[in-house]
Amino acid sequence: MEGKLIWWSPSPSWLMLSTLCLLLCAAQLQTSSATVAAAGTVPIPAGNVVPSAGVKLTSGKDEAMIDNGIIQLTLTNPGGFVRALKYQGVENVLETHEPDDFGGYFDVSWDHPGGEGKTEQVVGTKFTVITETEDQVELSFSSSWAASPKDLVPLNVDKRFIVQKGVSGFYWYVIVERLKGWPDVNMDQHRMVFRPKITMFKYMAVSDEIQKMMPAYKDRETGEKLAYPEAVLLTTAIEPEFKDQVDDKYQYSMEIKDHKLKGWISDDPKIGFWVISPSEEYIAGGPNKPELTCHCGPICLAMFTSVHYSGLDMVTEYRNGEPWKKVFGPVMVYLNSIVPSNDHAALWQDAKAQMEKEVQNWPYNFVASADYLPAAKRGSVSGQLLVDDKVLSPTPKEACTAYVGLALPGTTEVAFQFDVKGYQFWTQTDPKGNEVKLGPVTYKAPRNGPTLWEIGIPDRSAAEFFVPDPDPKFVNKFFVDKPNDKYRQYGLWLRYPELYPKSDLVFDIGVSNYSKDWFFAHVLRYV
Ligand SMILES: *[C@@H]1O[C@H](CO)[C@@H](O)[C@H](O)[C@H]1NC(C)=O
Repeated sequence: MEGKLIWWSPSPSWLMLSTLCLLLCAAQLQTSSATVAAAGTVPIPAGNVVPSAGVKLTSGKDEAMIDNGIIQLTLTNPGGFVRALKYQGVENVLETHEPDDFGGYFDVSWDHPGGEGKTEQVVGTKFTVITETEDQVELSFSSSWAASPKDLVPLNVDKRFIVQKGVSGFYWYVIVERLKGWPDVNMDQHRMVFRPKITMFKYMAVSDEIQKMMPAYKDRETGEKLAYPEAVLLTTAIEPEFKDQVDDKYQYSMEIKDHKLKGWISDDPKIGFWVISPSEEYIAGGPNKPELTCHCGPICLAMFTSVHYSGLDMVTEYRNGEPWKKVFGPVMVYLNSIVPSNDHAALWQDAKAQMEKEVQNWPYNFVASADYLPAAKRGSVSGQLLVDDKVLSPTPKEACTAYVGLALPGTTEVAFQFDVKGYQFWTQTDPKGNEVKLGPVTYKAPRNGPTLWEIGIPDRSAAEFFVPDPDPKFVNKFFVDKPNDKYRQYGLWLRYPELYPKSDLVFDIGVSNYSKDWFFAHVLRYV
């Protein structure tokens, strides 16, 4: 990967953050590319065997339909909800229970300060055809806060959909804006939600390793709620393999750096439904923030901002009439099928190849809104990152595989972790130490002398610490033989007071071993 950076904020000192990164990341990346190479079958996406037709738009009284001969996307007009997605002769690969649950929607969780919080599916009020050619159709479904009832989120929202000739899927981005002087507001989540059809999509894939058949949503309804509503013990299950297992959407979270591809597979007919996020620039929290991916429903998400795993620090707060504008996406919804019929791995590998193509194409040059900057309107920063730590080496050393990012300058070096308003541009330094353009940037490690002691590895991961076995009553069998994923099991926090019933753990430097004697999470004591 080339060390090319998109220049956003003139804050080169921010490059220092990169040194927080770890060789561990390199090991992980190598693992995942090895997996790609090992996979065998090369699938033929149906999009490549159907001759490409031009893109056709039909708009009616309450819907707009875009057809490129591969997919047909139907949107409510002017609401801008995904009503249907036709593919491979299936009229709708999405679930639809109108008016409450469309197959695809954008929502905002928000309230005025002091309010209890509510989630609003943003409804468009104005339909505009932005582009209509043989090659591409772009549609806008917008709403203006000033012209809306005052109990709606104080944002102007523009939902944009793009269908291109020869592309097996569609692109979707959303522009949100609040103008100067608008009322105080807290927003704790912005996301797109997709609901693949329940009767078809039963196999979920969120990474090379985490792919599995999933329980039915009904199993959750008949199960026993655990400590929070998302975690359910499946006391009855349509498929016996899920009986007495825990289902919890948080078990399938991935760090944003690993969030680019996720989706669901239908076995009959064999179809993959994928959500591709080609960039992290519009997702809040930086590369190591975990976010939800897909979960029992079936549901597939494109998360943009959220308080997941951080809490109130990541509420998007606006006070004193502060203005804001941000473009979320474009995200791609990609559909594939295999000719002849093949296995899950082939669909996943094909979707992964598509994801890599989208990443290569970023920033896109086909997005009509002036708020989305194409490559020609962006600058770049490149350089070589060195770490000067005299204790480890007399001369500065290359910071191999460090994550380097640009974000809004904050008051601390880790402000990017909590920034929800700006964009973030991340890259990883080349593990081979290739030539770089701008010259060296040296991070001087803060040192008063040699390290006397440390517990664990300062790499933003708790993987090296002690992760207890789950309570046998609350297991998700899928993770049992996966040591790296053990931390995902439900209720591990309750093991801490069992291990240390009277007082907190004591770690003796030089005697204790962090793999056994340091609990992987700082948990609350249940009283
Ligand atoms: C610490 O414990 C782990 C796990 O039991 C073990 O593999 C490792 O060798 C131990 N380290 C030391 C320094 O004893």
